[in-house]
Amino acid sequence: MSRQAKTTVLAFDSDAIHAGNKAIENDNPALDEKVEAILSSMTLAQKFNEIRGLQPESIDGLYYSGGAESLGIPAFKMVDGPRGARAGTATAFPVAMARGATFDVELERRVGQAIGLEVKARGGNVVLAPTINLLRHPGWGRAQETYSEDPYHMGAMSVSFISGAQNHVLTSPKHFAINNIENTRFEMSANVDDRTLHEVYLPHFKRSVVESRAASVMSAYNKVNGTYCSENPELLTKILRHDWGFRGFVESDWFLGTRSVAPALNGGLDIEMPSGYHFSDENLSAAMASGELTEATIDAAVRRIIRQKFLFRLDEDTVVDTSVVECDAHIELAAEVARKSMVLLKNSDKVLPLDSAIVKKIAVIGSLADMENLGDRGSSYVTSSHVITALQGIKAAAPKMDIHYIDSYQLDDRAVKKIAQVDVAIVVAGLTYKEEGEFIPTQQQEAEDGQLARGGDRLFLSLPPDQEELIREVSRLCQKTIVVLEGGSALIVRNWVDDVVGLLMAWYPGREGGTAIGEILFGQVNPSGKLPVSFPQEMSHLVEWDIVSLDINYEYHHGYRLLDLKQQAAEYPFGFGLSYTQFRLGKLKVEKGGDAKDQLTVLVDVENVGDRQGDEVVQLYVGYNDSSVERHVRELKGFGRVSLAAGEVKTLSFSLNASDFAYYDVDNGAWKLEDIEYSLFLGTSSAHLPLETTIRIK
Ligand code: GLC
Repeated sequence: MSRQAKTTVLAFDSDAIHAGNKAIENDNPALDEKVEAILSSMTLAQKFNEIRGLQPESIDGLYYSGGAESLGIPAFKMVDGPRGARAGTATAFPVAMARGATFDVELERRVGQAIGLEVKARGGNVVLAPTINLLRHPGWGRAQETYSEDPYHMGAMSVSFISGAQNHVLTSPKHFAINNIENTRFEMSANVDDRTLHEVYLPHFKRSVVESRAASVMSAYNKVNGTYCSENPELLTKILRHDWGFRGFVESDWFLGTRSVAPALNGGLDIEMPSGYHFSDENLSAAMASGELTEATIDAAVRRIIRQKFLFRLDEDTVVDTSVVECDAHIELAAEVARKSMVLLKNSDKVLPLDSAIVKKIAVIGSLADMENLGDRGSSYVTSSHVITALQGIKAAAPKMDIHYIDSYQLDDRAVKKIAQVDVAIVVAGLTYKEEGEFIPTQQQEAEDGQLARGGDRLFLSLPPDQEELIREVSRLCQKTIVVLEGGSALIVRNWVDDVVGLLMAWYPGREGGTAIGEILFGQVNPSGKLPVSFPQEMSHLVEWDIVSLDINYEYHHGYRLLDLKQQAAEYPFGFGLSYTQFRLGKLKVEKGGDAKDQLTVLVDVENVGDRQGDEVVQLYVGYNDSSVERHVRELKGFGRVSLAAGEVKTLSFSLNASDFAYYDVDNGAWKLEDIEYSLFLGTSSAHLPLETTIRIK
């Protein structure tokens, strides 16, 4: 067969990702004149109204703030969240951690567009998303809500969501900053040195603000180095505004997200949400009378607020089209994400995909298999009008299959007998909103009765004991036992994984997740997800996990970087995922130059050497040789997803800037590029990097 001309694919196509983002497209100097004119005509009462929410409760899912009809100033109408519109019913997409596992920025842009459209259809104009707090430890209660343990990967997914969503509404990447623990989030202080702050916990927020011009940022409940985020001038003014040039507004997290009047406004907070508890007329007037707070400071906040309202042209009545909510295109998109997010972790003797010509009888076991399991029921919850469960998806994928469903984690004699007779046993195991999720104390009281959100941080990463016992018992009864896991983060599988032949991580896969599970198990879809979080062999291989202390020092290393430092293998490494086909990488080339003068272009060929179509995610890591300071062993600095027919070859093109190699020099408070040798590693997981080259950058 003549070699077709090789296609070159950009690992990250910036123009495509940011197209239609109103914060970029609508920016113009006339806007500032309009804002000044309006600001100068506002009364103090109208200014007070701009810097606080309307009331504690949402109205049909919308949280209002500001607005002055007589001046043509629209109100903000803020709606959660990272998994879809939390207003009425909406398309329940797979959770962000599942989308992180797609490593597909173009897809995440489309998810951002769809969620933005549905928020708008519900009357909202600000989506309180994306959540981009780094997964420092997989036990974090809200792990499912974020994308990754790695700052580069997080940044790429975040800017894709933001620029997609900002085609339609404002966004609010959250929670700024270092909100990586749940139970103690209202009081705890995350303590970091400057290198860890700038190199690990901020890069993805910086990209969201600088590259995608996020309209707002939500400040976090917790403290950073002892100061509450909502009144932290280092974070909200120096870093966010002076260093990064952020022109959007900062709204607090809800209720305990604001802790004062003058310190908050002087520190850089703009809006107290969901209502003016601290920012009441009385308190604001008193703070001004005492001289703690000036009208100029209030004007600076109001200026940022109304500038975003007119930048996004919220004053132009746009017809709201409710037909987009849960429309066929969005349901299909949810299915596409589910298909691309699931990670095949184990496939002994190619037991998968199941061949219905050979496999005639299967058992599906475990209560989760036929349960709606969309994820946590805190602020990121989405009410879906329909959900396809794993069992329904398996039946749909193999309509002629003899399927026996055992809806329990305990096996009675009848079940034991049945399982011993089947060709394949599929156990659906994992977590629900009861074991992990946002920890809201008020809902905590309700949780005892109403079975609402419990959530909170997970002290352990293993499955509940009854599920582990079930898996071991089933694998004793049936030689071909496959486990499908549902959950929002890493799970420790060491106790039972050697007893099973197949393992698929499905995450909280959204309303169409069951369909994707069935299609992957029976081979109609080739799995292509990669882990956005390291799955460790045991807890002791991770950072210390203290979920009660109110003072925690955050280290420079966590996740795969910590495992690399300790030379400790993961059970399944960051970036890992199997396919039903095989790929080969080759022809690594580094070229100087590109769009910017200090740019490097890294090219690599990816070939599908198997017998069926598949997608591969190629990752680029940078290593530092003879650095004068401590560096991570290697850091992800690029990834690209490519779809290849059997036999097809494509060239992936990565762009690197000098800034990708710099470290944060604490003494000078600036980024520094060392004149050393750098290693470039290319491969298909943080632990499988077959291609390497070195470069020197002046
Ligand atoms: C919650 C969450 C935040 C959410 C907000 C509104 O406490 O921390 O992510 O957007 O309140 O529901």
